[in-house]
Amino acid sequence: MRHLLNPLDFSVEETNELLTLASDIEHNPKKYAHVCDGKKLATLFYEPSTRTRLSFESAMLSLGGSVLGFSSANSSSASKGESVADTIRMISCYADIAAMRHPKEGSALVASMHSQIPVINAGDGGHQHPTQTYADLLTIRSLKGHLNNLTIGLCGDLKFGRTVHSLVNALSRYDNLRFIFISPTELRVPDYITEMLREKNIPYEEVIRLEDKLPELDVLYMTRVQKERFFNEEDYVRLKDFYILTAKKMNLAPPDMLVLHPLPRVNEISVDVDDDPRAVYFKQAQYAVYVRMALILTLLNIHVD
Ligand code: NCD
Repeated sequence: MRHLLNPLDFSVEETNELLTLASDIEHNPKKYAHVCDGKKLATLFYEPSTRTRLSFESAMLSLGGSVLGFSSANSSSASKGESVADTIRMISCYADIAAMRHPKEGSALVASMHSQIPVINAGDGGHQHPTQTYADLLTIRSLKGHLNNLTIGLCGDLKFGRTVHSLVNALSRYDNLRFIFISPTELRVPDYITEMLREKNIPYEEVIRLEDKLPELDVLYMTRVQKERFFNEEDYVRLKDFYILTAKKMNLAPPDMLVLHPLPRVNEISVDVDDDPRAVYFKQAQYAVYVRMALILTLLNIHVD
C-alpha cells in the first residue's frame, strides 16, 4: 500500500503520469464520474483549511465516492488527548483512503505507519504539502506546456511556507530550471533546500527586492506570511506586508509570466491583479481538484481505460 507524504514519494515518471491522468480527467470528466462508487475518503483536518479540504471532498464526490471527516482538532477526539496513531487506526475501519492536515511536522508519516489505508499528507506544519505541489505542477504544465527550461521566482514567506518547500523539491527533478528566492532575510528559504540545489548544481539566487527580478521570471509563486507559525505577533506585523504585487508592478513582468499562489491570499497580491490574464491562482485551485482526483485513483489502484 502506498501513501503520499512528500512529493518525492512519486518518481518523475509517476508524477508525469499523475499529471497526464489529471489532464484526462479535466477533459473527460464523465468517464470518471462513477469510478469510486462505494469508496470513502476521510478528511482529517487538525488545522484550518478551505481549498485543500473542500477540493479533496469535491474530488471524491466527482469520482462517485463519499466523504466523511472533521475540519478542526476541537471537533475530534484529539481534544480529549487521542493520538494521531490511534485516530488513524479507527479511521482505517471507516474509510478507504485518508487525507490529513496537522500542525506538527511528520504527523502524516506517523499516521501512515499505523494506517491500513493510504494516507495523503494535506500539509504537516511548515514541512510539506505534496498535493498542493502537484496542483502547482499541473498548472504550470498545462499553461506553459512543460516543466523544463523555466526561471521560477518564489516570493514571500519561504521559511515557513510548506508549499514552497514541496514545490522546489519536486521541480528540482526537471531540467534547466533556475530559482530566484525573494524574501526578507528573516524568512529566507531553509538551508536544506539551498544545499539540495547546490548538490544538484541547480542555479539559484536569493534576493530581497521583487521588482528587480520580475522581468526575468517565467513563473512567480507568491505566498502569504504564515502568521500561525510565528512566535511573536510583532515580527508578523512587521513582515506581513513586505511584498504587495500590484497591477503597476505587473508592468515590469514578461507578457507570458504566470502568477501562482497556493491561496489564501492576504495582502500580498492586490485585487487589481486578479483580472490580469497572467494571474492564474484561481485556475490553479481548479487544477487542484483534477490532480486530487488523479491521486485518489492512483493510490486506490483504480485504472480507467
Ligand atoms: C497553503 C497551506 O496550507 O500551506 N494553503 C493551501 O493549502 N492552499 C498555503 C497557505 O496556507 O498559505
